[in-house]
Amino acid sequence: MAIILKSRREIEAIRRSGQLAREVLERLGEMVRPGVTTGALDEAAHRMITQRGAYPSPLHYNGFPRSICTSINEVVCHGIPGDRELKEGDIVNIDVTTCLAGYHGDCSRTFPVGRVVDDARKLVEVTEECLRRGIRAVRPGDSIHVIGAAIQELADECGYGIVQEFCGHGIGRNFHEEPAVLHYRSDRSTARHKRVRSVIMKPGMVFTIEPMINAGHPGTRVLEDGWTAVTLDGSLSAQFEHTIAVTEAGFDILTALDGAY
Ligand code: MF3
Ligand code: CO
Ligand code: CO
Repeated sequence: MAIILKSRREIEAIRRSGQLAREVLERLGEMVRPGVTTGALDEAAHRMITQRGAYPSPLHYNGFPRSICTSINEVVCHGIPGDRELKEGDIVNIDVTTCLAGYHGDCSRTFPVGRVVDDARKLVEVTEECLRRGIRAVRPGDSIHVIGAAIQELADECGYGIVQEFCGHGIGRNFHEEPAVLHYRSDRSTARHKRVRSVIMKPGMVFTIEPMINAGHPGTRVLEDGWTAVTLDGSLSAQFEHTIAVTEAGFDILTALDGAY
């Protein structure tokens, strides 16, 4: 249950996996248009990932039935690909996690389908900026709670709700490991908040940051299928995710193109 620090070699292995996940995510993004089913995106992802000798981490993970998650509009996360067709005006988060040579890499983006209304576009843009602000807060020696604090500052400004039921996570040989990375401020005196504040970032820590931001209330519920998480109030939700290594100098985005962001 402790945080597993990664060696340079392991970080390079996570980067190789993460770069595959990013490439697949980009290809899927190019497929996004009205009429495409989420099942077709899933099948393309499965093909690309297995062709490269990797495994799609979500498949059969705790019983999840598909290779990627596709979360449309009010779906917060863990949407199951199927027959649903994307339609003009939707926003869809595609979350790709690969396991290559024993190491996981995890990233997601939210894509607009065709033309979307201004409110949806703004939510997507602000959510990506929330991820950037969270990443920029990563620095060795600081408590991990600075990440959520940075994200909350921007979300509050926009009147958006930050989902609390799902968080970022350590990653490496395991898809999900310690530490939990909260996307909101943890300044209360509860056990959970104290625990988050006590985690100090160190070089060699590798974790995801993956804020889920709702246009309305932050609350969520899970549908009958046991996976699909939706907003309680039916408002739109967006998410972006990267896998990050803490370095001596700050951070290294293992799922970004050329390390840039
Ligand atoms: N990729 C998701 C994450 O960011 C987890 C999906 S779990 C699954 O952590 F079982 F739904 F695949
Ligand atoms: Co993740
Ligand atoms: Co993910």
